[in-house]
Amino acid sequence: MMKGVILAGGLGTRLYPLTYATNKHLLPVYDKPMIFYPMETLVRAGIEEILIVTSGPHVGHFLRVLKNGKELGVKHLEYAYQEKPDGGIADALALAEDFADEKPITVILGDNTTDADITGAVKRFVDGAMVFLKEVSDPERFGVPVFDGKDPKKIVEIEEKPKESKSKYAVTGLYLYDNKVFDYIKKSKPSARGELEITDINNWYVRAGTMRWVELKGFWSDAGTFQSLFLASEYWAKKSRG
Ligand code: TTP
Repeated sequence: MMKGVILAGGLGTRLYPLTYATNKHLLPVYDKPMIFYPMETLVRAGIEEILIVTSGPHVGHFLRVLKNGKELGVKHLEYAYQEKPDGGIADALALAEDFADEKPITVILGDNTTDADITGAVKRFVDGAMVFLKEVSDPERFGVPVFDGKDPKKIVEIEEKPKESKSKYAVTGLYLYDNKVFDYIKKSKPSARGELEITDINNWYVRAGTMRWVELKGFWSDAGTFQSLFLASEYWAKKSRG
């Protein structure tokens, strides 16, 4: 069974002053701490062993909230500490190398909430990488796939927060990777904003011809801005009322 990694480092500066006193991923999204949602997504996909990578001044709070993960159905929960809290998503993922134990991993960002079921994709995954795309109204906020003019199913590049997006899709914060991901991270260099970018890692796979994608079915949103945090809470509140 595949292992899962939740990336919950970062500083959550866009949510100041909410994140002065605790970590972004412990803030409420309707009736649960934000990080419950990615944990539940992994558990729903049959993933029982999870590593949480976190950082910043409030890391201790995670233990108080999640304990050993049993209440959420996690069999084995580990924590890792990202020394540079804003080192980038790929910098956080680098800490999962020993945990992955040379096998494929499912990765999800700690501020992503979705009711999509990724069980099939996780079960079928063998090697290379897979990204989950979602059509959004504001793709410029995300990594955006560029498709081949001749083969519209083929991604030729992923552009990070482009000024003008070449497709209407966002690369969501859900990824499947084989063990090569750690070699690619070691080869990558910090971007202009000083982060190891997950988009650079994904582009290594694109260039190697081993990147696949599927469209994420259902609701998906990050919760890292006031607007998206509010919309995510609203969605889950409505859903719970049925
Ligand atoms: P971001 O929202 O890009 O970064 P952030 O959480 O630091 O927020 P802000 O921009 O408001 O300061 O990151 C998306 C997710 O990726 C985040 O929820 C946690 C994870 N992440 C890490 O684990 N380590 C990092 O160094 C960064 C930048 C993000």
